[in-house]
Amino acid sequence: MDKVIEVQGLKKYYGSLYAVKGIDFYVEKGTLFAFLGPNGAGKTTVINMITTLLTYDEGVIFVDGLRVGTEDASIRKRIGIVFQNHFLDDLLTVKENLTTRGSFYGGTKAEIEDRVRKAMETVQISDLANRPYGKLSGGQRRRADIARALVHRPDILFLDEPTTGLDPQTRKSVWDTIRSIQQSRV
Ligand SMILES: Nc1ncnc2c1ncn2[C@@H]1O[C@H](COP(=O)(O)OP(=O)(O)OP(=O)(O)O)[C@@H](O)[C@H]1O
Ligand SMILES: [Mg+2]
Repeated sequence: MDKVIEVQGLKKYYGSLYAVKGIDFYVEKGTLFAFLGPNGAGKTTVINMITTLLTYDEGVIFVDGLRVGTEDASIRKRIGIVFQNHFLDDLLTVKENLTTRGSFYGGTKAEIEDRVRKAMETVQISDLANRPYGKLSGGQRRRADIARALVHRPDILFLDEPTTGLDPQTRKSVWDTIRSIQQSRV
């Protein structure tokens, strides 16, 4: 079995607040893995620690065999993150937003354009390419957020509450897209 993420004895304090009280889990390569918990349980905190955005106090985390805290630059190249809160630019179009983000990872103009086009195809928003992000519906916006996280072709995709606030039908269609991304990459 190939463990793509491994978390052992992970703990996090925010000052005196004990936010993550020692958790252990692993994720097998090629799988779709989810963890659930009530508001404030520490889900976002755990994702932020695995994705190198937040330091941790105890434990150890490996992402594709690389240790979080010592090999962060290599880890960041392999992961994509869909954050709980939207943060693309409302005034830019979907394509402009994705192109800006895509250019952070290097490549020629043609390569970036190609990656942006494929990311939009993957989440079925090609027809929204020229619409301002701020004018999209909730579900369309979430798809654009996912496309943004896919532009640099990560091996591992993290999604923090990808469908919260969406109606049941849109929620299902976003999950279908997530599942098809997983199945296409196995
Ligand atoms: N930067 C911070 N500083 C201090 N406390 C924080 C910080 N971020 C989160 N917390 C606290 O840590 C706990 C875990 O928060 P976290 O955001 O990880 O929960 P969550 O499971 O993602 O919740 P939700 O379902 O509401 O998104 C909460 O009690 C929260 O108030
Ligand atoms: Mg959260």
